[in-house]
Amino acid sequence: MSSAHITFDTTGDKIARRVRKMRPSAVRNLFAAATRDDVISLSGGMPAVSLLPEEDIRRATLAAIESPEARAVSLQYGPTDGLAGLRAVLADMMRDLGIRVKADQVLVTTGAQQALTLIAEAFIDPDDIIITEGPTYLGALQAFSAFEPDVRAIPFDEDGMRMDLLEEELKRIGKDNPRLKFCYTIPNFQNPGGVTMTAERRRRLLELAHEYNFMVVEDDPYGRLRYDGGHQVPLKAMDDSVIYLGTISKMLGPGLRTGWIAAPEAVLARINLVKQGADLCGSAFDQLVVQHYFADVAWQRTLQKFIALYKERRDAMLAALDEFFPPEATWTHPAGGMFLWITLPDYMDTDSMLAEALESGVTYVPGNSFFPDGKTGRNSMRVNFSFETPESITEAIRRLAKVIEERLELYRVFIEAGALPGYDRKDAAMDENATSWKDVIVDSEQNEEAVMQAREGDAEQIEIAEEKVTEAQEAAAE
Ligand SMILES: Cc1ncc(COP(=O)(O)O)c(C=O)c1O
Repeated sequence: MSSAHITFDTTGDKIARRVRKMRPSAVRNLFAAATRDDVISLSGGMPAVSLLPEEDIRRATLAAIESPEARAVSLQYGPTDGLAGLRAVLADMMRDLGIRVKADQVLVTTGAQQALTLIAEAFIDPDDIIITEGPTYLGALQAFSAFEPDVRAIPFDEDGMRMDLLEEELKRIGKDNPRLKFCYTIPNFQNPGGVTMTAERRRRLLELAHEYNFMVVEDDPYGRLRYDGGHQVPLKAMDDSVIYLGTISKMLGPGLRTGWIAAPEAVLARINLVKQGADLCGSAFDQLVVQHYFADVAWQRTLQKFIALYKERRDAMLAALDEFFPPEATWTHPAGGMFLWITLPDYMDTDSMLAEALESGVTYVPGNSFFPDGKTGRNSMRVNFSFETPESITEAIRRLAKVIEERLELYRVFIEAGALPGYDRKDAAMDENATSWKDVIVDSEQNEEAVMQAREGDAEQIEIAEEKVTEAQEAAAE
C-alpha cells in the first residue's frame, strides 16, 4: 500500500488573498546591502546601541536571572498584558511626558510593531478606512495591509499632517461613517518625514476625531529624541481616549523586543484577546531586563548621550545637504528623531536610482515605499542620520548628490531637447523667485506621459538624451 504524499503548493493558489497583496519592506530588503563594508547605509533606522553602558546592561540582565525568584519569572510564561512590574515602570515613565495612566491601562507588546498588528487585527475589517500621514511608517502599512483596509494618506508639511487636507478627506468620508476606524499618526519627528505636528494641529486633530467619530493612534518612538526646541504635549496627554504606542527600541535597544500600548481599558481588553492568539505573552526575560534598566535613573544619562550623538549627526547631514545637493532638491529639517525626507523634481525616480546609489556605495529608502499605493512619492527618499558617523554621513551625502546630479543632468538634457513638455529649464533659471524646478512646472497630461516614458527608459528618448549629453560634454571640453 503506498502512503499518500501531500505536497502543499506554497507558491500557487493556496496562499491567502491578503498575503498575495503584501509587499516586502524596502528597508528589510536593503538590510543585507546596508551591511556591506563598502556601502554607507542611510536606509535603516538603527539606534547607536554601541553607546549603551555595558555596566547598565549587565546589571539589568543579571537582575533578570540571578535569583531563583527572578528566574521563576524571566524563564516562565507571563501574563498576556505584560509583567505588572514593567507596566508600573512604563506608566511612571510616561508621567514626565504629561501622560497620566495607571499600570493596568498599559499592555506590553513585542515591540511597537506588534502593537500595530494587534490594533489592526482588533479594529480593521476589509475596506475599513484608515487615515495615515502620507508618507508614513512602512512597518505600519505592512501591519495594516494584512487586514485589507482602504488607507487614505494625508500629506504633511514642516508642521505635521495637513489638517486642511484631512478635513477635506473627512468630508468625503462623511460623519459617523462606520467604515472609518482610526487615524494613525507619528506626531513627533515623523518616520519618514522628520516633521513634528504643532500643538494647534494636535488640538485640531482631536476635535476632528470627535466630530467625525474615529480613534486616534499616536505612535511615539522618537518623542524623547529631541535636539532643538521644547517638547510637544502628546495627544494622549490632551485626550485620554487616544491609543498611545511606546517602545524602548530607540531609548535602549530593539534587540529587546519591547513596546507598549497605553489605552482605555475597554480597548486593551480587545487587544489582549488578539495577543493571546498571537503569542500568548511576550518574552518575560526581555521584559524583566527592560524593567530593571528603566527602574534605575541611569537610563536618563544614556538618553542624553544618544541625544548629543544624534544631534551632531543630524547637523552633519544638514550641512552636507547644503554643501553638496543640487538646488532642485528640498528636504525637511527635523528637530529630533532619526530621519529626514528629501524631495527631488517630480520627474526623478528614486526607486530605479537606488541601483546606481548602491553602486556608488550608499543606500537610502525610496519614497514610494512609504505610501499605501507603493507608487506615490517616487521622487522622494528617506535618509537616516542616527547610525553612521558624521564623517560617513558627509561622504554618503556627497556620493548621493553625485548620483542625483548625474540623473538630473540627463533630465536637463531631456528638458533642453523639449522631450519633457511643461518643464522649461530656461524659465527655471530665469525666474528669481523660483526655489526649485517644481515652481515652474506646468501640470499637463502630456507632461505626465513624458515623465512616465522617460522613467521607463523610453529607448528613443534615452538615445536623444545620450546624444545631447555627448554634445554637451564635447562643448564643455572645448
Ligand atoms: C514609527 C515607528 N513605529 C514603530 C516602530 C517599530 O518599533 P519596535 O522596534 O518597537 O517594534 C518603528 C521602528 O522603526 C517606527 O519608526
